[in-house]
Amino acid sequence: MKKIIIAIDGHSSSGKSTMAKDLAEAIGYTYIDTGAMYRAVACHAMKNDLANEDTINEEKLRAALADICIEFRPNPGTGRRETWLNGINVESAIRNIEVSSLASRIATLGFVRRHLVAMQQEMGRDKGIVMDGRDVGTVIFPSAELKIFVTASPEIRARRRLEELTAQGGNATYEAVLADVNRRDRLDSTRAESPLRQASDALLLDNSTMSRAEQQKWLLTHYYNAALQ
Ligand code: DC
Repeated sequence: MKKIIIAIDGHSSSGKSTMAKDLAEAIGYTYIDTGAMYRAVACHAMKNDLANEDTINEEKLRAALADICIEFRPNPGTGRRETWLNGINVESAIRNIEVSSLASRIATLGFVRRHLVAMQQEMGRDKGIVMDGRDVGTVIFPSAELKIFVTASPEIRARRRLEELTAQGGNATYEAVLADVNRRDRLDSTRAESPLRQASDALLLDNSTMSRAEQQKWLLTHYYNAALQ
């Protein structure tokens, strides 16, 4: 079977990271979480006072990009790759609601996108990857052999996100999380730079009522179809 690029794009909290990780593990591919890269840039901006709730210091952020080293290193216990920022494991730090909010604002900046897209294209040079994000099938790898666009209703996505946050010890409310999901959908799909949209050759997966096992089966079927072609 040939090695391919699998592009998984979709709405926030649609479960695309979980399914992309499961798929990569099942087929021995490398999983790359592009959202974690925007989150890592946001984390760096927060730590270094380059942004606050209202403004982003674009000039300083642009200069800081060269100092931001983002890596995905395997966790020795689970084997799963986690996000490291300048030599520090930030896998859980980048998942809080403040970083999420800033990441979505930072993701509207063209200079940040161009910087991260170049890194992402380099990571996929040898194929054999499952990459998830918002612009994988449209901008990063427009000729990916398999493109999937994932969605679920905002209410279902908010419930899933709330469960994740609660499991991590957070105390967010459903209303706050739903508002954040809707706000991020709006920002992701209306921004001028690489807005979230389904590529014309992407397969649509609405997983509102699908189990994790059902999604995995659906994905594997499409993976074999694409890799055997
Ligand atoms: O998938 P996520 O929620 O971890 O992504 C974090 C933010 O980054 C989110 O607001 C969307 C944005 N993003 C993006 O614009 N392009 C990507 N390829 C991945 C994420």
